[in-house]
Amino acid sequence: MLDFNDKTVVVIGGTSGINRGIATSFAKHRARVAVASRDQGKVDNTVRELEQLGADAHGFAADVRNKEDLETGMGEVHQRWGDFDVLVSGAAGNFPALANAMSANGFKSVVDIDLLGTFHVMQSAYPYLRKPGASIVNVSAPQAFLPMIGQSHVCAAKAGVDMITRTLAMEWGADGIRVNSVVPGPIEGTEGMKRLAPTPELLEKSRLSVPLQRLGKPEDLGNACMFLASELASYVSGAVIPIDGGWSLAGASSLSSALGKVLQASTPK
Ligand code: COA
Ligand code: NAP
Repeated sequence: MLDFNDKTVVVIGGTSGINRGIATSFAKHRARVAVASRDQGKVDNTVRELEQLGADAHGFAADVRNKEDLETGMGEVHQRWGDFDVLVSGAAGNFPALANAMSANGFKSVVDIDLLGTFHVMQSAYPYLRKPGASIVNVSAPQAFLPMIGQSHVCAAKAGVDMITRTLAMEWGADGIRVNSVVPGPIEGTEGMKRLAPTPELLEKSRLSVPLQRLGKPEDLGNACMFLASELASYVSGAVIPIDGGWSLAGASSLSSALGKVLQASTPK
């Protein structure tokens, strides 16, 4: 069931961290994998790494805020491999900042990347998705349903991402397309955690606030995405699934308090 031989997987934002981990999991399970992000150098490196795993790989540079970039790139992938079996949308931006210390453009940047970007990714992929059969996974965050100090932009954007997941699960269900969100917990070694828990103390606090007492790994998300893309999940659509060792039950709120203290101490009144 977890053999993706002859399947085409497209991972937007797939050139680092969690999303590259997801692309790697599919490549290790014999999928053809395409990745995209803004930085052509990161795209090329990731394609090389996926090829070293034995996968047929492709990449294109695109900013998810620019729908034309995505339309061109998706068209290239389709011309090369045909209809997409799996689409993962995970490009995101984040920086911790109190609302009063954030410009409107700072708020807008994150909303444009995470929320409008998700819409652009899904809309530009739609003509090329296998109908029936495609599976879409949006990468969300606990901030979608847990308020977090210093994260007003991400909370608003990711809540919207999960509502796009649910709405398009309804609109595209009749095409035989399933749409789900995964919600990573604190994942070790990632840019996201470097920004939210920048000190060893905050990182350790985060680890201890996970009921399973460990940080996650990108492959934890890779495993979840492969499940959602497989026949095993053929009746799963419109779901928002935490892959977080139980962190979002309560632990994520303790990072909010700790981050709040750091930001309040360092932000001029
Ligand atoms: N605190 C407050 N405002 C900040 C900020 C910070 N730490 N970092 C950026 N901003 C503001 C900028 O000042 C700017 O607003 P302004 O024009 O009013 O000054 C606005 O955000 C856009 O910044 P810019 O650097 O031009 O945006 P960008 O489009 O090049 O980058 C970001 C987008 C800011 C989200 C950038 O951090 C990024 O590219 N992130 C991708 C990687 C990432 O975040 N990974 C973790 C994913 S969870
Ligand atoms: P990351 O390594 O910074 O990954 C973000 C990816 O998105 C990169 O490949 C980046 O590449 C790309 N990207 C950023 N802005 C883009 C844009 N405008 N257009 C196209 N691509 C863009 O971060 P990460 O921590 O692994 O996070 C990955 C995902 O998991 C995000 O959706 C995040 O919200 C979610 N998440 C992370 C954690 C965590 O613990 N890290 C927890 C919860 C949720 P370029 O810079 O080359 O464009």
